[in-house]
Amino acid sequence: MKEKVHSKFVSLFGEGGVFYAAAGRINLIGEHTDYNGGYVFPGAIDKGILAEIKENGTDKVRLFAIDRDEYVEFSLSEESLPSQHWPRYIFGVCRETIKRGGKVKGFDAVFAGDVPLGAGLSSSAALESCFAYAINDMNGNGLDLFELARIGQSTEHNYCGVKCGIMDQFASCFGKAGHLIRLNCKTLEYQYFPFNPQGYRVVLLDTCVKHMLADSAYNKRRESCEKAAAEIKKNHPEVDFLSDCKRVWLDEVRGKISEEDFIRAEYVIGEVQRVLDVCDALERGDYETVGEMMYQTHFGLSRLYEVSCPELDFLAKLARKMEVTGARVMGGGFGGCTINLVKDELYDGFIAAAKEQFNAQFGHDLKVYDVVISDGARKL
Ligand code: GLA
Repeated sequence: MKEKVHSKFVSLFGEGGVFYAAAGRINLIGEHTDYNGGYVFPGAIDKGILAEIKENGTDKVRLFAIDRDEYVEFSLSEESLPSQHWPRYIFGVCRETIKRGGKVKGFDAVFAGDVPLGAGLSSSAALESCFAYAINDMNGNGLDLFELARIGQSTEHNYCGVKCGIMDQFASCFGKAGHLIRLNCKTLEYQYFPFNPQGYRVVLLDTCVKHMLADSAYNKRRESCEKAAAEIKKNHPEVDFLSDCKRVWLDEVRGKISEEDFIRAEYVIGEVQRVLDVCDALERGDYETVGEMMYQTHFGLSRLYEVSCPELDFLAKLARKMEVTGARVMGGGFGGCTINLVKDELYDGFIAAAKEQFNAQFGHDLKVYDVVISDGARKL
């Protein structure tokens, strides 16, 4: 990938620049909890974005995306919003850096990635984090890693229409090889947990489906949570987020919020607790409990939060049937991957059965990604 990027860079822009990289992510547990002030438990993976970048002495950004074979340029003023979708991630990062008082000098960049698109592995966060990190470094802005993660998140909010939480950009910036990171999304306290489950493998099964309107459905979930939290706050003023709520407080407002908002909140309150339970279990080396929680999360995401789909439900059900330790839909949902915790001795049989039965049921192949927990954003 590096040679490809470099030879394109030289042919387009002349003398080479500096390489930066950032990763996609997995999340062991804690889904749709980030924007509710709850816990998440992600890690960066060995798939990401690689960019070669160099200042060009103008006020323009000139970009070439290898994977799309597309060239785009824009200037750094707010009116220059690119019409295509992918350059908006980088435009947004530039604008959000400027909004925070950072300098952004014009630059040339060529980039490529190997995060599968639409698989729920945060290819967009990898792109944002890579450029947020690079721009900060090249311009000597001195913003800390949290601010870089927030730049990516605000890019999603203000330039891409997704009201996401902080998890993906956080993982992409803070990732550390061999470690998952538990983040409290309210206080932003975080802790690295070594993750090397002896006797188990973590594998992603990509349904290769991505449902339309996932972004608007995502934003709608967030609104439901905020409505529920606002109603609970009337009785319990200390509540800022759903993660502050006890389950019985939710019961008090049943009937005052829609049934839909109620079941969304019910899922989130359960999920916040599950992250803590999983971390405790991991410290005891109790992977069976970790796996059981993953199944509970899948159930909640499918039946209460309603962000699953037939393909994901099929894979989670098959995993259960084959006595896989844990399986669930990962990331925002509406397609993408399941994450599976599988005993070594079951691995081959499970993967073979999943491939065959998935194809027989849906008429197309799934993809298999073994997970390697890796470092986050960096200069190479
Ligand atoms: C997407 C968002 C994250 C998070 C997950 C669900 O990946 O970008 O902020 O909400 O969905 O956990």
